[in-house]
Parts: sequence; structure tokens; C-alpha cells
Amino acid sequence: MTAPLVYVLNGPNLNRLGSREPEIYGSQTLDNIGDLIVRQADSQGLQVDFRQTNDEAELIGWIHEAVDRGADVVLNPAAFTHYSYAVRDACALVTGSGSRLIEIHLSNPAAREEFRHSSVIAGVATGTIAGFGSDSYLLALRALAR
Ligand code: DQA
Repeated sequence: MTAPLVYVLNGPNLNRLGSREPEIYGSQTLDNIGDLIVRQADSQGLQVDFRQTNDEAELIGWIHEAVDRGADVVLNPAAFTHYSYAVRDACALVTGSGSRLIEIHLSNPAAREEFRHSSVIAGVATGTIAGFGSDSYLLALRALAR
């Protein structure tokens, strides 16, 4: 039996982790986080496709790809969280198809600036995990592996 596939997708500016606002996002780079994720996924019998883009259209294309492949999705939509109805509509295709989509954040946006308090993604996600740094990703994988 092939391992269930999970797309772990990252939105804009997350390629700058490590040097981007380390007091908020910590000192790990996205590559460091990717390594942790792949290691945990292996031990949980999941197959992970880990990607990052600064481009909204590319992210939407990857979400469509996940739908077509019947994959679950762990998504850090970054700033798209707060305003992209196009990303939201793509996420709705995932959960509408019966797959799961977990919205994750390194920081806790609810404890930050006002504009970060609302997520246009949350309403079509299976669930949300925020505020645990890179553990937010690992907790999401754990939920999917159960
Ligand atoms: C973030 C939170 C967003 O508000 C912000 O725009 C990001 C990162 C997080 O992981 O904490 O880029 O999604």
C-alpha cells in the first residue's frame, strides 16, 4: 500500500524564515522545518510534498493539484490568510472533495495586529493550528496521521 500523500504548502515570505522577524517566527529556516516535517512524516507513514511560493496563482495551482491527487493539505497561507478569497475558494475545493485541509501558522495571528485577526481560510478548513512555531506543522501532520 502506498503512503497517504500530504501536500505541505507555504505562502509568501516564508522562504525568508530564519532572518525574517526572528523574534516572531524564530530562527529556523524553511529548509530546517521541511527536514523536520519529512522526518516526522516518514515515521508516521505519510508521504509529504513540501513547497513554498510567493505567487498566489502558483499556490492555487498546487491546491488544485492536491485535489486531483486526493491528497490532504497542510497550508500556511501566510499573508493570503487575511484577504485572499481566491486561495479560500481553492481550499474549499479540498474540503469539498472529502480531503482534509489544516490551516497552520507559526505565530498566533489572533495575538498580533488587528488585520491578522481574521482568516478568510478558516471557514473552509478542517481545522486550524497556530502559535506553536514549527510544531504547528508537526501537530497538523499528527492530526492527519490519526
Ligand atoms: C503567518 C502569520 C501571517 O499573519 C503572516 O502574514 C505570515 C506568517 C504565520 O505563520 O505566523 O506570513 O502565517
